[in-house]
Amino acid sequence: TWTPEAFVDMTVNELREKIGDDKVVLGLSGGVDSSVAAVLLHKAIGKNLYCIFVNNGLLRKDEFESVLDQYKHMGLNVKGVDASARFLEALAGVSEPEAKRKKIGNAFIEVFDDEAHLIKDVKYLAQGTIYPDVIESVSVNGGPSATIKSHHNVGGLPDFMKLKIVEPLRMIFKDEVRRVGAELGIAQELLGRHPFPGPGLAIRILGDVTAEKVRILQEVDAIFINGLKEWKLYDKVWQAGAILLPVNSVGVMGDERTYEKVVALRAVESTDGMTADWVNLPYDFLQKTSNTIINRVKGVNRVVYDISSKPPATIEWE
Ligand code: XMP
Repeated sequence: TWTPEAFVDMTVNELREKIGDDKVVLGLSGGVDSSVAAVLLHKAIGKNLYCIFVNNGLLRKDEFESVLDQYKHMGLNVKGVDASARFLEALAGVSEPEAKRKKIGNAFIEVFDDEAHLIKDVKYLAQGTIYPDVIESVSVNGGPSATIKSHHNVGGLPDFMKLKIVEPLRMIFKDEVRRVGAELGIAQELLGRHPFPGPGLAIRILGDVTAEKVRILQEVDAIFINGLKEWKLYDKVWQAGAILLPVNSVGVMGDERTYEKVVALRAVESTDGMTADWVNLPYDFLQKTSNTIINRVKGVNRVVYDISSKPPATIEWE
């Protein structure tokens, strides 16, 4: 029978044998898969694993700093690269969902390639690819593997994509990845995180993306997610987030008429993201969350809850 202990022992041995004294580069996303892959490789080859964590400016509020800190505490050899401005520039004026994905994917590849070049004589590219990604051949987990595909026909391959590939999780499923992570001593807080799309908040800001919209959505999202944690609902939900709609609605504040943004909250139950049901969150929770958002986040005067299941709706709105 499969056990996380045996998997870790076997994989660490295999990685040591295969990689020897060579250097490996890996892109961390803050998600479960890339984190577990990194810790596994770190156990096998130590400082020869070079991790790169790119801030695309589209992460959750304070996420880059706090996750980078966690990685450092785990002993990983990690470099945080703040490329927010570069991504926002690439996204300026772009509204179409697939066009946004492409811009973000290409910006990621450029940033990652620049960083990989700074590591002398790197031989391998490690990825947190898991078994379902192998079958679907499309990663839903962000990071390098998710962005490589869309870049294939753009011309010559960037140099890091010519490296030999190491994918220590390619034969196992998500629940097994979590068990391996626990075996490796990774904090439950990190292992239990909801999935988050590679293009991040850009595909939850319908229409074009600006720094101000990112700021508003980060505030709303943080209130929603922290609320789910406080109400002990976070672990009952497979994925949750907020969406900034490209419409204004009329409201009143004191004697004044307001004309401000609308946000939608989304929370779904699912096992693999292929199908999903909206979650029956308690009315008390929704009421409290909506009040907090409208009172605290300047520029938002209306909150709605998405009650659509997949199919036919998708989890993300874009
Ligand atoms: P949908 O919206 O297709 O989402 O029902 C299913 C799962 O995939 C995630 N998702 C993405 N992940 N890059 C990613 O890395 C993407 O472009 C992307 N689009 C959707 C979504 O968050 C959900 O978990």
